[in-house]
Amino acid sequence: MHEEQFFLDRIEQAVPTDKETIMAAFYEFLELEHLYESAAEIVKTQLNIYDNEFSFKFQRNPIHGIESRIKSPQSIVEKLQRKGFPLSAKSARQNLMDIAGIRVVCYYVQDIYALAELLHLQETFQVVKVKDYIKHPKPSGYRSLHMILTVPVRLAGGRQLVPVEIQIRTIAMDFWASLEHQLHYKTDCVVSDALKEELRDCAETIAQTDLQMQDIYQRIHDLD
Ligand code: GTP
Ligand code: MG
Repeated sequence: MHEEQFFLDRIEQAVPTDKETIMAAFYEFLELEHLYESAAEIVKTQLNIYDNEFSFKFQRNPIHGIESRIKSPQSIVEKLQRKGFPLSAKSARQNLMDIAGIRVVCYYVQDIYALAELLHLQETFQVVKVKDYIKHPKPSGYRSLHMILTVPVRLAGGRQLVPVEIQIRTIAMDFWASLEHQLHYKTDCVVSDALKEELRDCAETIAQTDLQMQDIYQRIHDLD
């Protein structure tokens, strides 16, 4: 197991008195993982309920696919270190909002805003932050709607409020983001300003096509 190895490596390197502390930290991280996985499951279930209802009422699914991931202990520790926060499960809970991440890929831009609206209206979730990189794309050209929700998770020991990051995007936005991510990921190559501009141009073209496809859908639909 990935996470277990992360802690086992540290235990091997530690002096005997530290071993108990590392084991305690290991269990805290396992608990954290369980909590955030539960929160992500709750949100995914709700998104599937909306998708099924929409499909039943309008004979069309707004959601093309949903992916989720829980940040590994290694990435959590790296991010806490990078941001200068204390290294503990408690600090991760307080300072990191993207331990649980859900990516929702929709068919059309209008589906993104329809889902976001439903999540706003959902009284069990609290929307704590929205970043609209569709109306305001990142300098890279990146587009998506990001939301942080707090989700109540009921455990035997009581209710916990857990933040979940949701990235909502179209198939077209996902296509660009996936390729662009792969181009940058773990490469030491420096991307020139000219290439960055070209990538931004690609994002622009894709965004226009996205709106054109939505327009075609509307025109076909209006004829019904
Ligand atoms: P992080 O510390 O990276 O989480 O940054 P942040 O808290 O400011 O969040 P931000 O709103 O920048 O969104 C972070 C996430 O959005 C990343 O983990 C990526 O999944 C995605 N993202 C943001 N910018 C880009 C980009 O330029 N290209 C791609 N491919 N993905 C991006
Ligand atoms: Mg992040």
